[in-house]
Amino acid sequence: MGEIHKINNDWWYNQDYKKGMEFDFSTKDFIDVNLPHANIELPYNYFDEEMYQFVSCYKKIIVIEDQYKDKVICIRFEGVMTYAKVFLNGNFIGEHKGGYTPFELNLTEYVKFGSENVLTVIVDSTERQDIPPFGGQIDYLTYGGIYRDVSLRFYNKTYIENAQIKTKNLYKELKSLEIDLYLNNLNEQVIDTELIIELKDIEQKSIYTKKEKLKVEKGNTKQTIEFLEIANILLWDIENPNLYEVTLKLVTENDEDRFVSKIGFRDCEFRKDGFYLNNQRIKLRGLNRHQSYPYVGYAMPKRVQEKDALILKNELHLNIVRTSHYPQSINFLNKCDEIGLLVFEEIPGWQHIGDFEWKDVAIENVREMILRDFNHPSIILWGIRINESRDDDNFYIKTNKLARQLDSTRQTGGVRCIEKSSFLEDVYTMNDFVHDGKEIALREPKKVTGLAEDVPYLVTEYNGHMYPTKKFDQEERQSEHVLRHLRVQNASYSMDNISGAIGWCAFDYNTHKDFGAGDRICYHGVMDMYRIKKFASYAYKSQVDPNIEPVLYPATFWARGERSKGGVLPLVILTNCDYIEVQFGSFSSKKFMRKEQLLNHLPYAPIIIESVKEFGEWGMRWEDCTLRGYVDEQCIIEKKMSANPIPTNLNILPDDIELSSEEKDVTRVVVEITDQYNNILPFTDNVLNIKVEGVGQLIGPKQIALKGGSIAFWIETINKVGKIRVSVKTDGFKEKVINIDVV
Ligand code: GAL
Repeated sequence: MGEIHKINNDWWYNQDYKKGMEFDFSTKDFIDVNLPHANIELPYNYFDEEMYQFVSCYKKIIVIEDQYKDKVICIRFEGVMTYAKVFLNGNFIGEHKGGYTPFELNLTEYVKFGSENVLTVIVDSTERQDIPPFGGQIDYLTYGGIYRDVSLRFYNKTYIENAQIKTKNLYKELKSLEIDLYLNNLNEQVIDTELIIELKDIEQKSIYTKKEKLKVEKGNTKQTIEFLEIANILLWDIENPNLYEVTLKLVTENDEDRFVSKIGFRDCEFRKDGFYLNNQRIKLRGLNRHQSYPYVGYAMPKRVQEKDALILKNELHLNIVRTSHYPQSINFLNKCDEIGLLVFEEIPGWQHIGDFEWKDVAIENVREMILRDFNHPSIILWGIRINESRDDDNFYIKTNKLARQLDSTRQTGGVRCIEKSSFLEDVYTMNDFVHDGKEIALREPKKVTGLAEDVPYLVTEYNGHMYPTKKFDQEERQSEHVLRHLRVQNASYSMDNISGAIGWCAFDYNTHKDFGAGDRICYHGVMDMYRIKKFASYAYKSQVDPNIEPVLYPATFWARGERSKGGVLPLVILTNCDYIEVQFGSFSSKKFMRKEQLLNHLPYAPIIIESVKEFGEWGMRWEDCTLRGYVDEQCIIEKKMSANPIPTNLNILPDDIELSSEEKDVTRVVVEITDQYNNILPFTDNVLNIKVEGVGQLIGPKQIALKGGSIAFWIETINKVGKIRVSVKTDGFKEKVINIDVV
């Protein structure tokens, strides 16, 4: 993989590309930016999606020292939205279509050693009809810019371009590796090399090394090599995501090349009776993720990408995420590997299938996605259909063939919403939006597939547009939102021929005018765009073992008159406790258990209180309430709600208090106003004045208002060491300050 130098800092940017800029080496009228970069900062909502659809220009001055004279020098872009044309010192180097997959271009021929080279990237962020997902309508925004990392790569004349490291003999004491090496030899003759493998555990302790002689033919070749008898390996799974680091050294007479990758020893299979990880059946419970954020769209660096994975795994306790509807950041995927969050990854697209040229790009996307990601143990399935597209057998025979040829270890899926569509994949992956609040939560797989036999089957979406719900919507709606998620999950848990269900969706997202609430937002998340919880997030969160995290969350704002006709009943309480006690005012407490038949396939059905005499009627005194959750007769969690909530706390909650100065680093700061019991006051709409001083800057506006009692903002570093001081002022509270260290 050569020597890698990240080059995310100090780019020059001009929002308005003008013909000839690629031949003009001045950076006059360009501004200094760091990557990841959004081509424009957008408002939170109510904006015209054409705002980011323009052609812009990026420049970067690169100095390459003489020591690299005999190397092959490439530049790698992890993601440029949507079309990129690259020049070095005015010479055309190459282009790339598609904003979600990486590409690498060879600069060697035009490099001037020891002096300044001007790299120019023309970035077309319009919705070009020749590139997926464009050509029809799509329910999300794609934004623009060089929004992922860029690096320079220095290769020897003989190097490992890529390697798929397949883990074998998983259930034996001694395991093995089968490695498909993608080699490149630019010499005119066959080269004799030595391949040295080293396997390290997570503490960087070496646990296996071996040498093999290897002849490398001229040009691009592929060779498979096996390493046997590897001892002391722990399998990777969702509870114990044991990772190992493999280093492959390709040693030639004069130099050596290294390829490094994290791997996990595991196997996975969708079968007719469910999904199996290391031969153990696991019901998949997940949500779809769009990779977008307020103001900067897709352009968030490593830490923020990782945070999403942490939220999905540790806050929502999901075991799978679908990267709808495109390959997502490697930083997100690496974190999924590390924490044991399974991933269904798919190619870019949404309903529309274009012409031949368009399909060629889609097929290329299959290749780029799989070659980038085949070593992630978290990825268990490739989505190689355009999401919800019509059948197109010729096209999908090709995508399936390519996926299977590139990766023999994973099955293919292709997300559809049409019943009885042709089944060319290994797993029938279906968006099942049948649930409308009534009886039926999911369709019978055989009815959907039209096949006589069961096949491996996964539900890839439900809910979403069937019941959009805002964080600040009325309590009754939010409570029904919770129940809809629970009903579908319950149905999924009740049927062995369904591997699991992945709901629409994790986070609200900006969308085109043709979708959403009219303000360019689809309020389909169980969390809002700031990743702040709605009630429905607890439908998922409460499914975890109480030993991991006790959960007790009533879907209520606890007020007498918020719901139609008043009261808080039926009160849905999301909990993983055995039973709960409810104490209303000074009345004696009452014990509530789960109802026998109700949502009883879930790991932890909610406790639903239909009626309690003492909660009383309209006009009676309203009282505080205390809920206590018991496991094994021990009270493990308590939740108090105030009958007389008063704004008491202004909480400023940064995700991190230490950031890095090396490259653009970003963290989120959540702000909430809470009452005496630290419950968010859902109808406070205070205006916040945010001031960021020191070695950081605010992303988005300086003045924002709480939405449903809370909001967040993000802060980015400016490549300097020091302190960032963040202050928040709002009426009724003393100014609050937090400090973040940048090291
Ligand atoms: C699906 C689609 C998603 C989203 C969802 C809303 O049809 O695949 O991208 O639009 O509907 O419920």
